[in-house]
This record gives sequence, structure tokens and C-alpha cells, in this order.
Amino acid sequence: MATITCSNITKSYGGHPVIEDLNLAIPDHEFVVFLGPSGCGKSTMLRMIAGLEDVSSGTVAIGGEDVTHRHPGQRGVAMVFQSYALYPHMSVRENITFGLRRAGVDKAEIERRLHQVVSILGLEPLLERKPKAMSGGQQQRVAMARAMIKTPKVFLFDEPLSNLDAKLREKLRTEIRRMHNTLRTTTIFVTHDQLEAMTIADRIVLMRAGAIEQQGTPDEIFDRPATRFVADFIGSPAMNFLLGRVQNGAAVAGSVQIPLPPGRFRLKEGQEVELGLRPSRMDLVAADAPGAITGRVQLIENMGSEGQVIAEVDGRELSLVTKDFRRLSIGDAISFAIAPEHLHVFDRATGRSLLAKDA
Ligand SMILES: Nc1ncnc2c1ncn2[C@@H]1O[C@H](COP(=O)(O)OP(=O)(O)OP(=O)(O)O)[C@@H](O)[C@H]1O
Ligand SMILES: [Mg+2]
Repeated sequence: MATITCSNITKSYGGHPVIEDLNLAIPDHEFVVFLGPSGCGKSTMLRMIAGLEDVSSGTVAIGGEDVTHRHPGQRGVAMVFQSYALYPHMSVRENITFGLRRAGVDKAEIERRLHQVVSILGLEPLLERKPKAMSGGQQQRVAMARAMIKTPKVFLFDEPLSNLDAKLREKLRTEIRRMHNTLRTTTIFVTHDQLEAMTIADRIVLMRAGAIEQQGTPDEIFDRPATRFVADFIGSPAMNFLLGRVQNGAAVAGSVQIPLPPGRFRLKEGQEVELGLRPSRMDLVAADAPGAITGRVQLIENMGSEGQVIAEVDGRELSLVTKDFRRLSIGDAISFAIAPEHLHVFDRATGRSLLAKDA
């Protein structure tokens, strides 16, 4: 087991920088998710930590040892990719143990480790099968077992679930997390799926264009986004954004007037801001309640235990998520409000959150 430290990492392809001066420290045992849009550099970072890609400058340390110039095989990492590429002519047992047999590990030791990993991943009944006789999810579990049996210091996963259907993804996600709770091996898991990141991570490192935009626990990232980009990237349905201005202690955007708790934000009278309202943080209220936003129901999406209601307010659409959606119909007048502690206010020019440091 090991810490991972990336210091001043830069990576360029043909003179074009894709990672710029990135610093990151991951403590022992932590499960970290690299999250961000396509092309932001998640796989490049992971591959540099694994040693599959050189850094242009900077250092990578694993377990306190500088491994920047070590081969992948000498870093103590095991990586699982999106495409699992099993050996088609080998059984599950042979696929999983191939690396250890080649390294000349003692037979009894291989058997011991094999039984440990296949029991964690529920692969015992499949040991003699060939890959073509298994589902995608089963094959991906074999690929995970093949990585786990090496008992690495660090696990690196690059979108290992993205070829699977939604239900299987959810199941394997839970299995990966359960496996981590047992083994506690330091893990980096790459995804561009924010829900997957929220559910599996101890800490999310949200990347944008080759740099870290914000890092924090799922709760910190969800409830205290440092920028509009983070606020917009996390959460489904997506956050509502409104252009507004600070006026007499309230944030005002057309007919919307939301009281601002004194001292919570760093704001000046008349300042132009962008407001962020999470659909799941709004509640239905009486039309005359303080801060009530009044509109008309446009669309209702039933999500089972709750529903997304899209309302027209001043000619634009705002969405909220409520359990009480069944008593609403299209065309109804509707009033809803956001609790002051859930309002987000961003600088219009920089996109940075204006939340006060000690709020
Ligand atoms: N071998 C390469 N040569 C040139 N450019 C590359 C190479 N590999 C990656 N890039 C560029 O580096 C940037 C980061 O790519 P990377 O694969 O790390 O993104 P990612 O965050 O993993 O995206 P995705 O979610 O699509 O997998 C992209 O702009 C990509 O085009
Ligand atoms: Mg990638």
C-alpha cells in the first residue's frame, strides 16, 4: 500500500501542453476518482502514474519513492482498462494466473491468491470457462481479478465499466467499492460519469483542460462547488443558472428575489452575479413565502420516488426535483424556494464561487 504524489507534472504532445504543472497528493488507502469532460487529461495522468507514458517534466512518487523513470512493472501498480483484452484461448483460471506463472511464483502461493480474488469477485463457478463463453461484466471481473492477484501497492482503473450496461455497471461499481473496503489498496479510478464518481469516491479530483479545477469529498464538490464549471458538471438534473444582481440584501433576477444571508457571500451592492440553484435543493412553498419563485408547470418527469418539474419563470425554464410532483399538472401555477444555505453565487467574469471563506 502506498501514497501517490505527483509534483509539478507537465505533459506536452508535439509542443502542445495537455497537462500543466499539476500537483496532487493521495494518502495511503484513499479511493480517488479523476472526473472531468472528455479530453481533460484523466487517462494521460493515469498513464503517467502507471509509467505507460513519460512525463514531460515533474515527478511521480509512489510510497515515497521517486518512480518517475521506472518501468511500469517496477512501480507496484496494477491497471484495469475499459477494454479488458483477455487471452481468448485461455480459461479464466489461466488468464488470472498468467502473470504470476510467468514470474515463477510458487504454485501453492498462486492457488492461495487465486482463491482469495475469485471469492471476492464471485468468479469461482467460472474458473474453467473461456472468455467467449462469458458476458461483458464477467469478462471485466476477470480483468479485475488479473490485476488484483498481483497484490499491487496501487490500483489504477481507466473507465473499466463504460462498456457495460447500466445495471451491470451499478453492480460492479458496488463490487469495486466493497473490494476496496476490504483490501484498502490506494486506488485511482477514472470516469467521466459524475454519478459514478459521487457514489464510489472518497475524494473527487475534478479536472478541466489539463488542470485540477477542484478536489474534495463528494459532499464538498456537490454542496460547495468552487466554480460554476464544477457546479454545472456535478448533479443530475443539472443546476439552474440565473444572471442576477445584488440589490438591498437580496439576489435579484427578474421576478426572482432571493434573500442573501448576511456574511455568507463576499458581495457588493449592485454587483452582477450568476446564481446557482440545484433542482434537488428546492422545495414547494406558499406563493407568499419569503424568496418564493413563482412560475407555471411546463413538464413533469416521473422518476419513481420523485419527479423533475420544469417550470416557466419570466420566460425561462427552471427545474426542481420534488416528491410531491404527483399533485401537480401541466399549466398549474407553482411556487418554490431554495433554502439560503443551498444558494450558490458566482462571479460572472471569473466563474468563481463568492462564498465567504468561513461560511
Ligand atoms: N498520444 C497522443 N498524442 C497527441 N495527443 C494526445 C495523445 N494522447 C492524448 N492526447 C491529447 O491529450 C488530451 C488529453 O487526453 P486524455 O486521453 O488524457 O483525455 P481523457 O480526459 O482521458 O478523455 P476521455 O474522457 O475522452 O477518455 C486530449 O486533448 C488528447 O487529444
Ligand atoms: Mg480517457
